[in-house]
Amino acid sequence: MSIPLNRRNLLLGVAASGLVQPAVAAAPDFGPLVKPSWSPEGPQGAAARKGLGFGAAVPSNLLNRSAEFRTLLARDCGLLLGNNEMKMAVVLPEPGRTDFAPADSVVRFARAHGQRLRGHALVWHEALPGWVAPLLAGAGPAKAEDFLRRWAETVMGRYRGLIASWDVVNEVMAGYGPVTRADGLRPSPWLTALGPDYIDLAFRIAHEADPRAALAWNEDSLEHDFPWAEAKRTRVLKRLEAMRAKGVPIRRFGIQAHLVSDQPFDAGKFRRFLREIGQMGLGIEITELDIDDKAYPGDPKARDRAVANFARRFLDVALDEPALLDVVTWGLFDGDTWLNDHPDHRRRDGLRQRPLPFDEAMRPKPFREALIAAFRHAPDHSALRARLRGTA
Ligand code: XIL
Repeated sequence: MSIPLNRRNLLLGVAASGLVQPAVAAAPDFGPLVKPSWSPEGPQGAAARKGLGFGAAVPSNLLNRSAEFRTLLARDCGLLLGNNEMKMAVVLPEPGRTDFAPADSVVRFARAHGQRLRGHALVWHEALPGWVAPLLAGAGPAKAEDFLRRWAETVMGRYRGLIASWDVVNEVMAGYGPVTRADGLRPSPWLTALGPDYIDLAFRIAHEADPRAALAWNEDSLEHDFPWAEAKRTRVLKRLEAMRAKGVPIRRFGIQAHLVSDQPFDAGKFRRFLREIGQMGLGIEITELDIDDKAYPGDPKARDRAVANFARRFLDVALDEPALLDVVTWGLFDGDTWLNDHPDHRRRDGLRQRPLPFDEAMRPKPFREALIAAFRHAPDHSALRARLRGTA
């Protein structure tokens, strides 16, 4: 069916699509959650002994294509997510059509290997399919809310009960770029359509769509020591406090941790930030860890060592925080990093980045050892984890 591209028909198109009939009605059986496949020798093994979790974001095409990659994931990870698979651009490519095949294969693999799952990302200013931006821009708050509800029912509904924690909002606070509003919110089609309460609204809607998932706010650019980053940390804490006071159903705060080797890191400031979040009763997840190595030498050995050292320094601070629950890397091996495609992350010598625990040939690097060592040295998180995690 082809729908003319005007605003009214776009909305009717949505109404006629799978967005109205939540796809959960036709959700396949993703199989039982089997006994975990991870090895006691790997990072998840070391993490588990401290009540912690370790995992990675993965692309489904690689998962489906490479047996070697599947072996790595099965052995080292206790938690998985698709890096793009549950984003709207993939799931709702055009009005009336949903594509769950990529996300389904990640979910199926994780269930078959006893791995927990994260959902990423329900409300983001990026990864909106081309047809949705004009829809949001012209909808008005009531219709935009209706659209958000249907989207949440569609994607969260399909995987209801299977996802440990869901990134309900992603990168909603300005800071790395210009800050244009007094409340510090980043410009976004969602903000334009729904107003500044869209974050609270998204959590309430997400909670209806999957009441058992621990709902997270996932945020970037909070790790380094810059005045603008400190200002952003302060704004985040203020907003979190307000959300808690209003009873917004948020249970997690996600820190992306795309670390950059030429940016300063102040352990004390970062530690205090985590503590404040922990004291609000929220669990904390490191959600997208990788290390842009642009400041380090070209020589792979020296570079891998420097990356591992920075990872260890960062992880020691993070894992010291009692509310820290999981560490997730954004990819598992250097052949699958997003950094080489991003203009901000190009190395001056033109070499490819080496930001992840395994190299391009999927051989383990010192970063993997650093993860294992950091988990081994971490305090035991089991007691608080049981309280914070609930069923997640
Ligand atoms: C990235 C993916 O890895 C890329 O494949 C895609 O082209 C762009 O998005 N912060 C996030 C992630 O929250 O969703 C981003 O993932 C990386 C930055």
